[in-house]
Amino acid sequence: MNAPRFIFGLVLPLILRAERSAGAGFHFASYISNYMVLQKEPAGAVIWGYGIPGAMVTVTVGQDQEAIMKKVTSVNAYSSIWMVVLDPMKPGGPFELTAQQCFGKINSTLRVHDVLFGDVWLCSGQSNMQMTVSQIFNATRELSDTDAYQSIRIFSVSLVQAAKELEDLSLVDLDWSKPTSKNLGHGNFEYMSAVCWLFGRYLFDALQYPIGLIASSWGGTPIEAWSSERSLRACGIPWKRSVLPNSGHGPHAYSVLWNAMIHPLHNMTLKGVIWYQGEANMNLHRNLYNCMFPELIEDWRETFHRGSHGQTERYFPFGFVQLSSFLRGATPDDQCPEIRWHQTADFGYVPNRRMPNTFMAVAMDLGDRNSPFDSIHPRDKQTVAYRLHLGALAVAYGEKLTFQGPMPEKIELLADEGLLNLTYSQQIQVKINKKIFTVSCCDDHQCKWLPAPMDAFSTQTLTLNVSSCHGTLVALRYAWTTWPCEYKQCPLYHPTSTLPAPPFFALLQSRFLKSIEGS
Ligand SMILES: *[C@@H]1O[C@H](CO)[C@@H](O)[C@H](O)[C@H]1NC(C)=O
Ligand SMILES: *[C@@H]1O[C@H](CO)[C@@H](O)[C@H](O)[C@H]1NC(C)=O
Ligand SMILES: *[C@@H]1O[C@H](CO)[C@@H](O)[C@H](O)[C@H]1NC(C)=O
Ligand SMILES: *[C@@H]1O[C@H](CO)[C@@H](O)[C@H](O)[C@H]1NC(C)=O
Ligand SMILES: *[C@@H]1O[C@H](CO)[C@@H](O)[C@H](O)[C@H]1NC(C)=O
Repeated sequence: MNAPRFIFGLVLPLILRAERSAGAGFHFASYISNYMVLQKEPAGAVIWGYGIPGAMVTVTVGQDQEAIMKKVTSVNAYSSIWMVVLDPMKPGGPFELTAQQCFGKINSTLRVHDVLFGDVWLCSGQSNMQMTVSQIFNATRELSDTDAYQSIRIFSVSLVQAAKELEDLSLVDLDWSKPTSKNLGHGNFEYMSAVCWLFGRYLFDALQYPIGLIASSWGGTPIEAWSSERSLRACGIPWKRSVLPNSGHGPHAYSVLWNAMIHPLHNMTLKGVIWYQGEANMNLHRNLYNCMFPELIEDWRETFHRGSHGQTERYFPFGFVQLSSFLRGATPDDQCPEIRWHQTADFGYVPNRRMPNTFMAVAMDLGDRNSPFDSIHPRDKQTVAYRLHLGALAVAYGEKLTFQGPMPEKIELLADEGLLNLTYSQQIQVKINKKIFTVSCCDDHQCKWLPAPMDAFSTQTLTLNVSSCHGTLVALRYAWTTWPCEYKQCPLYHPTSTLPAPPFFALLQSRFLKSIEGS
């Protein structure tokens, strides 16, 4: 599928370091280069690099030959690293960034040009995040409008794994670049991520200031590979058994992608993260995903906050895509709905108590049977990115808008009539579908899932006929299958935003809904 570079441990960074130190050891961190976007106000961007221990380093931000900011620091005697935090900058540019090192008679200068200030988003996950613009619907058209988006800059991390946390990237597939049809349509699953790009494009349309996009994703990889030892231990995963059963391509060892593809970015100031992953966990620690995912978010937040000297927000916005539909073949039909549910920490919606400041794009109605890349890779990434950007506008940018589909806030059993009445938090647009709701109906011997056909509805309520249950109603589920509906044809949407109602599982107890939080 792609040509991953299997580089173990610290071999490559050492080689690169050796090459670089030929230039008197003075260089920027790997991801500081021409065309980059640095995080704008209210945060300050972190600039760092390597130098001669003890040397003085002056970092200057300039425009038209004039310095508008100067920061002075010195190179750490032990780590050979220097670092400054820039003053918060308004969005805009271009600027030139220079770093000058003075040590005795040695006086050297590094320059990067065409630097913009804006919002920097990191995009990570599996192959659905890796899929490029050339693989999606309307690819030609989507690749043809890059001229209008020269203030969006893109960067793509190489596929590398490491046994230890690296302090800088060992390899970069695409250095900071202006978007072109060539670098966006590079090849199948090889930089640059279509979801990441389209998300950035929607954000730029809304915000009208520079956006930096960093793609760091690898197909077929489980969440364990992107998690630190800390977060896996927090979920009771015995970290010692470090190699996981390999259910696909992509590395399956604990923490190896966290180490090589995420941790090296933790000193950078970021706005937020988007994530499209979960397929590789349908059959691997599935029942721990409701722990591993919130723990990953918490750990990334903590690490990036600390690494950026407090500049990246402690609870930075974190968006993700709930898994889409696919032709499941031999996959049992409960695995995908369970992962979708666990992606929300079993709440069904986000943000929630376990996952503050998060947003989700529901994608179960975007299945693509005829995808040439297999149905697991649906080609409509535009709608995915559109839904994600609505979440970002609401959660990350504080806009008042509808960013998630309707969830029931009350479920009442009208026992005499054999009906369940659902009251939704929002208006609902309903297409009758007899099979999408099911109830768990128990007698003294067993429980069975029975269809609960939709009977009637009004603007915010829905009535289900549960008269086929002659025992006790225990639970209600919505859209609890791998492929619950055809393309954009789910039975429940919010009418104006056209956002689909997310799937849910609710325990019912006697007459009342007990709780749709946790289970
Ligand atoms: C280093 O070189 C620059 C010009 O390249 C000069 O402006 C600066 O004064 C020099 N600094 C020292 C300490 O020699
Ligand atoms: C990166 O973050 C780590 C952890 O907070 C810190 O020890 C290190 O000094 C930081 N490096 C730079 C260049 O700021
Ligand atoms: C592709 O283009 C057609 C024609 O403009 C449009 O109707 C359709 O919605 C587009 N598909 C996606 C996924 O954006
Ligand atoms: C149940 O919902 C229907 C509309 O779908 C409504 O007419 C009826 O009044 C509701 N019953 C109760 C008890 O809320
Ligand atoms: C519920 O469905 C049953 C048959 O499945 C039907 O006989 C009954 O009339 C329905 N109840 C209501 C209130 O529509």
